[in-house]
Amino acid sequence: MIKRIQEWLSRKDRQVPVEISPDNIPRHVAIIMDGNGRWAKRRGLPRIVGHQNGMKAVKRATIAANDLGVEFLTMYAFSTENWKRPKDEVDFLMRLPVEFLAIELDELIEKNVQVRVMGDTEALPSHTRRAMEEAIVRTESNTGLILNFALNYGGRKEIEDCMRGLGKDIQAGVLSPEEITSELIDSRLLSGGLPDPDLLIRTSGEMRLSNFMLWQIAYSELWFTDAYWPEFDKAHLMQAVAEYQRRTRRYGGLK
Ligand code: FPP
Repeated sequence: MIKRIQEWLSRKDRQVPVEISPDNIPRHVAIIMDGNGRWAKRRGLPRIVGHQNGMKAVKRATIAANDLGVEFLTMYAFSTENWKRPKDEVDFLMRLPVEFLAIELDELIEKNVQVRVMGDTEALPSHTRRAMEEAIVRTESNTGLILNFALNYGGRKEIEDCMRGLGKDIQAGVLSPEEITSELIDSRLLSGGLPDPDLLIRTSGEMRLSNFMLWQIAYSELWFTDAYWPEFDKAHLMQAVAEYQRRTRRYGGLK
């Protein structure tokens, strides 16, 4: 018994019961879902089994965030750099949103969730794009949690495209350089309309941003866990939110 308690205490990601105040729930939680491949490798399984189980964790995280009263949940599902992976893995990853929505869309609608996508969707395979479009259309009048998938998303590309657009507007004489403000840039990024993430979570022990929401996370609180993404559940989210509530956000000022 003592050995088991010691083992539990030494686990870096141990799940302790946490107290959460309903008055300070992060409005926007963004997640870098990492560690699917290592989770599978640990078990002697192919990487795609890790992604399949990662999809189940997407469902758990969505329900948990909705239960906690989070308003926006952005999940990094596929980056502009992920195309470099072997074709079989890319094909599998592109089928996951289709499978996820086929299984879960009705329940998401029942829970009043609104699905959105952020990224270069033109370059997605047609089956992936169609599934996302259908989910967006079928949930657009929902008023609950906004579940925002970052799909074929890259932070630098997003900024590059935004700057190109502003440059074109200046060239066309419809915008002057003095009119470029943070608010204007916000409105012209792919996340336009969403508030900046309050809390950014990354799983699997890696402590990088990996080209994710580079502009928007300027003042986000960061929380890292050693848990691999397929292991992520409500207890992890609660730990992250409890830690968020212990932080003092100063935005560069004094408090
Ligand atoms: C990173 O783990 C994970 C990804 C690149 C894909 C994330 C996708 C999912 C979790 C499923 C998405 C589901 C829906 C519904 C969109 P990794 O493969 O880089 O892991 P590793 O670093 O251990 O190799």
